Amino acid sequence: MPDAADRRAEIIDGKAFAAALRGRIAGHVSAMKAKGVAPGLAVVLVGEDPASQVYVRNKHRQTLEAGMESFEHRLPVETPEAELLALVARLNADPAVHGILVQLPLPRHVDAAKVLDAIDPAKDVDGFHVVNVGRLATGLPALTPCTPLGCLMLLKDRLGDLSGAEAVIVGRSNIVGKPMAQLLLRESCTVTVAHSRTRDLPGTCRRADILVAAVGRPEMIPGDWIKPGATVIDVGINRIPAPEKGEGKHRLVGDVHFESAASVAGAITPVPGGVGPMTIACLLANTSTAASRIHGLEPPADLTR
Ligand SMILES: NC(=O)c1ccc[n+]([C@@H]2O[C@H](COP(=O)([O-])OP(=O)(O)OC[C@H]3O[C@@H](n4cnc5c(N)ncnc54)[C@H](OP(=O)(O)O)[C@@H]3O)[C@@H](O)[C@H]2O)c1
Repeated sequence: MPDAADRRAEIIDGKAFAAALRGRIAGHVSAMKAKGVAPGLAVVLVGEDPASQVYVRNKHRQTLEAGMESFEHRLPVETPEAELLALVARLNADPAVHGILVQLPLPRHVDAAKVLDAIDPAKDVDGFHVVNVGRLATGLPALTPCTPLGCLMLLKDRLGDLSGAEAVIVGRSNIVGKPMAQLLLRESCTVTVAHSRTRDLPGTCRRADILVAAVGRPEMIPGDWIKPGATVIDVGINRIPAPEKGEGKHRLVGDVHFESAASVAGAITPVPGGVGPMTIACLLANTSTAASRIHGLEPPADLTR
């Protein structure tokens, strides 16, 4: 028997899971095309933010690889809010477009909430519209934010039935923490959402059979905050200096201290290669789901939960 110090968690391979998911989506897309529906995703990018440009490029490539139509709208940073709203209205009305994603962050002169609110909820593949937030919270079919949907898929793949599990989410953002809580509640977990005002964060984390870290603080959660055998989903993507790789070099780390956590947890997502690849795959899943619903078809269950 290995002692506790030798124990290594199973590494949850999000990259491989996302590749398989994209393969299944491509299958659903070709089945839809055979019925005369060609799912299409429109991505709107305002300005030149370098990270956003990389995301948009990757989304475009993976959308095409899945057999979907990809419509890119790149607008200059000074684009007036009214012009952006007019574009969203045109995309809402365009029958070739089933999913609309406005890449965040938007420039400061644009009211992001107003723009997100203008997207037709049936095409809101980011799942940020209040109608989808409300539908998720009340148990109705919804378009669900991509990153937490990806986390849920990884959890269900590893654990199967999540019913009764003690789940702790660290972080309460609208894009990760809160929708993650709704999804885990839907799966009948006992859910705790921790945040910067939580009194005993280490003790709260130690209760978790499922620990989801979505904080944005590099390696904040050490192994001794983790219950032995727990499943750890690390959403954090943090760039930290890596002088060992050369001057000015960086590396990516999560919100969990991987090395110490991997000696305690039952399974853990790495950074990179864990949750990250799931986000775009779930965007494609949501686009396929939206196209199905818009055309009165039943979306495949393996893309929505
Ligand atoms: N893998 C992906 O595709 C993906 C997608 C989205 C985000 N991310 C990453 O996930 C992380 C979180 O993103 P986000 O957008 O949810 O971040 P966010 O909006 O900044 O929210 C961070 C949350 O963490 C909480 N928090 C901050 N410091 C804390 C502390 N010391 N103790 C406990 N809680 C603390 C905050 O609490 P308060 O509410 O009390 O301030 C807040 O609820 C980031 O690293 C981001 O890059 C990854």
